[in-house]
Amino acid sequence: MSSGNSVLVIGSGGREHAIAYKLSQSGLVNSVYVAPGNPGMMKSSSKIKTVNIKVTDPAGLLSFAMKEKIDFTFVGPEVALSLGVVDLFREQNLLIIGPTKAASMLESSKAFAKKIMMEANVPTAGYKEFKNSNEAISYIHSSPFEKMVVKCDGLAAGKGVIVCSTKNEAIHAVNAFMNDSLLGENIDHIIIEDFLEGIEVSAFALCNSNGDSHMFLGTACDHKRLRDGDHGPNTGGMGVFSPAPLFSDEDEAWINTHVFSPMLKTMKKNGTPFSGILFAGLMKTKSGWSVLEFNVRLGDPETQVLLPLIDEDLFPAFLSAAKGELEKYAAPKKKKLAGVHVVMAALGYPGTEGIKIRSGDKIVIDQQFSTLKNDYLFFAGVDIADDQLVTSGGRVLGVTALRENFTEARKSAYELVSSIHFEGAQYRTDIGVGQQ
Ligand code: AMP
Ligand code: GLY
Repeated sequence: MSSGNSVLVIGSGGREHAIAYKLSQSGLVNSVYVAPGNPGMMKSSSKIKTVNIKVTDPAGLLSFAMKEKIDFTFVGPEVALSLGVVDLFREQNLLIIGPTKAASMLESSKAFAKKIMMEANVPTAGYKEFKNSNEAISYIHSSPFEKMVVKCDGLAAGKGVIVCSTKNEAIHAVNAFMNDSLLGENIDHIIIEDFLEGIEVSAFALCNSNGDSHMFLGTACDHKRLRDGDHGPNTGGMGVFSPAPLFSDEDEAWINTHVFSPMLKTMKKNGTPFSGILFAGLMKTKSGWSVLEFNVRLGDPETQVLLPLIDEDLFPAFLSAAKGELEKYAAPKKKKLAGVHVVMAALGYPGTEGIKIRSGDKIVIDQQFSTLKNDYLFFAGVDIADDQLVTSGGRVLGVTALRENFTEARKSAYELVSSIHFEGAQYRTDIGVGQQ
């Protein structure tokens, strides 16, 4: 392996900043290009450079990777995967981490994911699929349960799931998706799922490019609602803590054997081998683990605490996964620390409450962040104006602190947050509360 590797990270948010930063720390990596990236990222390492190519431009990304002789590429966001960027790179024999367009349907189609889970005998909530709203409503009436979950097929950026406490709510949800264009268009395909109760944990696996094996990367628990106490609208995630408390080595072994391995085996058998990152949304119920959903990429903000907790250079394992040689690697060594990550977003985010999303505000940071102290600052929605970082809307940045326990990590994360100022900043004050 040469020491002068050039890598490309596709994406522009905090997740991609965390990936780029982790790669920049490798002695085997010379340059980390991020397309399109954001101007905050370059502050964390002189190896990081941004390239102005959109994630929705697979051909532009490919031509850059060929011109710059990029050694391997890591895809951050789902949208680039669903546009087939992995297929395109592989046609030119370029090394890339991510699933093919066909395999990325595990995230974009709930019905496809359910079908594979059933075939692979992976535990998941019972469900039924509907293409007709009258049939869905008759099913709801005939159900012995009041609570159920209505999910629409297709990418819906987190808006396609409605957890219903009563049959009336479920009927309303079916009508909203199928007849009233809740998501901007009528959805012609939904599933209705049994309601499960328990503790939610996200687990991440890096999968080999031949779809045969995987490496467990870690766990995290996120806070999706905008406001404290899990109030307010759903967001991409306002904070996260990791590792998931009470997730034992036995749990990890169980998830490897009963979730990740059978999913990979079935995907391969069906002619859509899965490579890249498999992100399992899990629930621990009274009767054991159940899968709520799969995503086909790293989580944002989960990655911003997951990667800092990994205590080794991940570049060799990433490169091997892209080459189909991941089985050489055991799960990476982790710091024996607890991590808390807090997102600071622009006023108006996530844009569903009719408040205009603020942008263009100066960002002032009073304190030096030292990764030697396990403090990390990752940028997302930022721009540059008059040589100064300014907000550009959405989730602006995120702060991670790793400490001996969650109480200390939370205290430190919020001290760091209090040293960052921009007009209209909104953040939750209860990330990881209740965890020691
Ligand atoms: P999903 O995008 O499928 O993970 O759903 C988003 C959120 O809805 C999950 O994080 C859960 O909090 C909730 N959810 C999804 N499926 C179920 C279920 N079967 N029972 C209870 N809650 C669920
Ligand atoms: N934070 C959840 C996600 O990345 O989907």
